[in-house]
Amino acid sequence: MGHGLLSALHGARGRNASIIALDVRELAPDIRAHCDQAFIGDICDHPLLERLLAMYEIQEIYHLAALLSTRGEFAPETAHQVNVGGTLNLLHLAAEQARSHGRTVKFFFPSSIAVYGMPDLATKRASGSVREDQFCEPHTMYGCNKLAGEHLGRYYAHHYRKLAKDRIEHPVDFRSIRFPGIISAETMPSGGTSDYGPEMIHAAAAGRAYCCFVRGDSRIPFMTMPEAIDSTLRLMAAPRPVLRRCVYNVASFSPRADDFARLVRLAFPSAEIEFEPDLGRQSIIDSWPECCDDSAARADWGWTQSHTLESAFSGYLLPRISSRYSNTAATAPAGRAKAADMLKK
Ligand code: SER
Repeated sequence: MGHGLLSALHGARGRNASIIALDVRELAPDIRAHCDQAFIGDICDHPLLERLLAMYEIQEIYHLAALLSTRGEFAPETAHQVNVGGTLNLLHLAAEQARSHGRTVKFFFPSSIAVYGMPDLATKRASGSVREDQFCEPHTMYGCNKLAGEHLGRYYAHHYRKLAKDRIEHPVDFRSIRFPGIISAETMPSGGTSDYGPEMIHAAAAGRAYCCFVRGDSRIPFMTMPEAIDSTLRLMAAPRPVLRRCVYNVASFSPRADDFARLVRLAFPSAEIEFEPDLGRQSIIDSWPECCDDSAARADWGWTQSHTLESAFSGYLLPRISSRYSNTAATAPAGRAKAADMLKK
């Protein structure tokens, strides 16, 4: 998501704003071109963050670094260090910036549907859309970390150093969105549990067989990458007084895994897709809600989705993915155009 956000921020930034990127890997040249400075480093590296604090007058922080839910279950303590330790470091950086420049620092934190923990499948199916304050008992380390990040953000925004004589009020303007699974035509996720959606589409476009690790009837919310970026920019642009919460759900579409397979087969008739559930990853998906109630985001800062599942395929995924894999036999242009047309109808 960071890469898409960098180009959106580059397009939307004010004349005097600079973009400083920090990533554990070197950025690709086209992404690097959107930044004024790019550092290679880790959000757990204190001396590096101290240097950034000294070098720049930071007004907004977009904190996108995380180890996702599947990877986190193989190394829960490392996930905690990166996901919670890294968040704490950046919140501290924001608060120190606010102290030295006498101005609140805006902070964006991408939270996740992983903060929810439905007790069982029957409750998940009976509950439908869940509100922000329901079922917040995550089953994964990643979910626990995201929930902790939300609470830390709220603390830095409203209660930081409560007893200190020299405390400043509201050093951090913390804003967070609980994202569903995100599907990008450009980048492949890794280490997540919602990855089956994007993996199925990219595999078919590249002409590879795909074995889906959850049941066909698994349902969780998803959205496209442009919707995720649009929601981030909209929340960050909202005037502070209209925001009644620190953390908001957003929703777009909630397909079953076999709905993905149906549309993928329509677009790529030679696609080979099998379902072979992995019990562990299935249990994570079963613990996430089918749908999120985003009425607070709609009412407070005007969130609206751009897509249904069908329009996400016809208007975003198929045209872009096809050009990305244009050399493979699976992406015969005539078939794709026909599929995109059928989906539009
Ligand atoms: N996409 C994330 C994951 O699968 C959930 O936010 O871990």
